[in-house]
Amino acid sequence: MYNTDTQRQLFDLSKQLLKATEQPSATEAKAESEQLHAVLIYHEWRYSIKNDPVISDFEYDSLYKRLEALEQWYPDLIGPESPTQRVSNDLTEDFPSVEHLVPMLSLANSYNEEDLVDFDTQIKKLCSLDADAKIEYTVEPKYDGGSIALVYEKDLLARAATRGNGALGEEMTNNARTMKSVPLKADFSKKNIAKVELRGEVVIRKDHFVKMNKEREKEGLSLFANPRNTATGGLRMKDPKELANRGLEAFVYQLGYAVDQNGIDQLSSFDTHFEGIEMLGQLGFKIPDKGMKLCKNINEVVAFCREWEGKRDNYQYEIDGMVVKVNSLALQDKCGYTSHHPRWAIAYKFKAKQGTSKLLSVEYQVGKIGSVTPVAKLEPVTVAGVSISSVSLHNADFIQGKDIRLGDTVLVERAGDVIPYIVKPLDELRNGSEQVIEFPKNCPVCETPLIREEGEAAWRCPNHNCSAQVIQRMIHHVSKDAMDIDGFGKSYVERFHEEGWLNTLADLYRLKYDYIAGLEGFGDKSAANLMEAIKTAKANPISRLLFSLSIHHLGKKVSKLLAAEVKHVLDLQKWEVEDFTNIKDVGPKVAENVMAFFQNPENISLLEELEALGVNLQQTEEDQPRQISADAPLAGKTILFTGSLQKMGRKEAQEKAERAGARNISAISSKLNILVVGEKAGSKLRKAEALGTVEIITEDEFIRIIEN
Ligand code: IVH
Repeated sequence: MYNTDTQRQLFDLSKQLLKATEQPSATEAKAESEQLHAVLIYHEWRYSIKNDPVISDFEYDSLYKRLEALEQWYPDLIGPESPTQRVSNDLTEDFPSVEHLVPMLSLANSYNEEDLVDFDTQIKKLCSLDADAKIEYTVEPKYDGGSIALVYEKDLLARAATRGNGALGEEMTNNARTMKSVPLKADFSKKNIAKVELRGEVVIRKDHFVKMNKEREKEGLSLFANPRNTATGGLRMKDPKELANRGLEAFVYQLGYAVDQNGIDQLSSFDTHFEGIEMLGQLGFKIPDKGMKLCKNINEVVAFCREWEGKRDNYQYEIDGMVVKVNSLALQDKCGYTSHHPRWAIAYKFKAKQGTSKLLSVEYQVGKIGSVTPVAKLEPVTVAGVSISSVSLHNADFIQGKDIRLGDTVLVERAGDVIPYIVKPLDELRNGSEQVIEFPKNCPVCETPLIREEGEAAWRCPNHNCSAQVIQRMIHHVSKDAMDIDGFGKSYVERFHEEGWLNTLADLYRLKYDYIAGLEGFGDKSAANLMEAIKTAKANPISRLLFSLSIHHLGKKVSKLLAAEVKHVLDLQKWEVEDFTNIKDVGPKVAENVMAFFQNPENISLLEELEALGVNLQQTEEDQPRQISADAPLAGKTILFTGSLQKMGRKEAQEKAERAGARNISAISSKLNILVVGEKAGSKLRKAEALGTVEIITEDEFIRIIEN
C-alpha cells in the first residue's frame, strides 16, 4: 500500500504538521487539510491494519484535533472521506433492510483431513480434471465474528450491511464507518472498478475483549460472553460514538461483486482469488495476510490447516477453523454454487471448544474490597485440550439470569486464552433433583451480613477487617502491578498470615529476616532476597502505593493521575470532589471512594505507620507528569531490553527510554523497533536477528541516543 519512500515522506510530514497552531487562510487550510487526511489515513493504516504504529497516540490525537480545528474554521473542508467523519452524531434509529448485490452464502463444513481430500477429489470431478491433477488453493483463517458486506461506489464507502438472511442484510453504514480498518475512501477507480461489494468479518482482539470485560466487571456491568458476541453486538449498537470504544476491526476476505462505470463485470479481470485479496490489501483494507497461504495442492492445505489448529490460541483473534478456496477464478466458475454455499470453498472446522459437565457445588470467594464471587465446581471436563473444574459464575445476577442450578449439566466454553465460562444449563437434561442456588446472605468467612450497593452487580462483605479481605488486600499490595515486591506472592502472604505475622499492610514492612529464614522450605538466601525486595519496594513512586491500597474503583491509570497532582499522599485528605473531577479521566465515583478512604482515621494511621516504617509517601520524579515532545529522541518507537545491563538497572533503563518518548514492550515481534542488548543476551537477540526488522543496539549506544 505504501512504499518506504512514501512512508518516510508521510512520517516527516506528520512531524511538520504537528507544529501548526495558528489559523491559516482558507487556501492554506485546504492544502493543510489534504495533507492531514493523507497522514491520518496513513497512521490509521499503520495502527489498525499493520498493528504497528509509528507515532504515539498523543501525536495521532494532536493531528486529528488540528484537522477538526481546520474544519471548524472552514466547514467547507468537511467531506465524507475526512477522518473526522468516522463517528456521526446521529443515533442510528434502526437498521433498515437492504438487498445484497449478490447473496451472501454460507460455507460447507469439514471436520477432518479426509474431508479435505474428498473435497479436492470433488473439485477435480467438477472441473473435469484428472485425479492426479494439482489444484491451487488459498487458505485463510475462518474468523469467528459477525459477517459484513461493504459497498464502495466511486471510491467512497457507500453502504455497509450485516449478513442478515443472506439475501437481505441490515444496513449499518454509520457503525462501519467508526472502524479505522474500514477505509472511507479506496482507489478502486484506478482498477477500473466503479462499484464493488466486499465480504468480511468484524472481530475484536482477544486481549481487548479480556480488558473490556475486566473494566466492565469493575464497573459492575454485565459481562460479554465471548469476543464473537461482543463484535456482533457491537455492530448493532445504536450509538456510533459508544461503538467507537469497542475496538472492532474488519477483515475482508472476498470480492463479491465488481463492475466498471458501465456496469460491466470486472471480477473477471482477476485470474485468482489471491490476486483479488492482495489488491484489497494494496488499497488499505485489512486482509488475512499472515494467516493466508497459497497452497500448491491439497497436501499443503492439510498441513497448513493442521499448523493453524496447533497455534490458534496464540493468534490475536478468535478463529474457529480455516477456509479453503479454489484459487483460480476460472475453476471457481466451473464449480458453481448450491443455494447454500459455493462448491469451490469449504470450511475446515477446528475441534470444538465446548464441553458439558455437571455442576457439583458452588464456592464463594471474598475479594479485596469484599466482593463475593461465586465459583462453580465442576466434574473435570477437557475442553480443547485443557481440563476445567472451576469456573467463575461472576455474581448473583449471572446465576439467576441463566437459571443455573446445582446438579445441572452445563455447557462450558473455552474461547482461546479467554477464561472458560458457562454458556447455559442444559435444562432438557434435568431430572427434578436440581436445586436452585441460594446466594449467601452472610459473608462466608466472617459472617457479616452482605450488602449490595445501588448499581453494583456484586454482593459485598462490608467488614473491612474480614480476614479474607485483609489477605486479598495484601496479595494485591505485593503484586507486580502494585508495590511489585519481587518473589512475594499469594502463597507467602497466606503462609505468613497463618504464622500470625501479617495482620495489616504495615506488618509487611515489619517482617524480620530471622522469622523467614527459620521457616521450613526457606533458607538464608531466599529470606535475604525477600528482605531486599521489600526494602526496594519502600522507595516506590506513590502511584504504586496508591494503587496498592485496594481503594474501590481506583485503578492503575487514575492512581498515576492522582500521584501526578500531590506532593505527599496525605495531601489527598484535603481533596474535594472537584479536585478529582477537574482531572481529565477521573470521575465522581472514584472521587467518592478515594475521599471515603482518606476520611477514615484508621486508613490515615495506616499510612502514617507505613511512612514511619520507611515506605515512601512523597511524590517522586517518576510520579511527575511527563511531556514528551514529538522530537524526543525515541518518539513513537517501541523498545525492549535484554541481557544484563552494566550501567543501569532494567527498570531505570525502561524509564529513561519512556522519558525519551519510547514505549517498552515485552516480546520480540514485528512491532518491535529497537532491541538494546546487554551482556549474555540469549534467545531474544537471536529472534530479533532472525526477524531482520529490529534495530539492535548496545547499552552505550542507547545512552548516547537518549542523551542526545
Ligand atoms: S468466505 C462465498 N472466508 O464464515 C464465500 N468466510 O460459516 C463465503 N468467515 O458467512 C465466505 N472467515 O462470515 C469466508 N476467510 C473467510 C472467512 C469466512 C470467516 C465466515 C463468514 C461466513 C461464515 C460461514
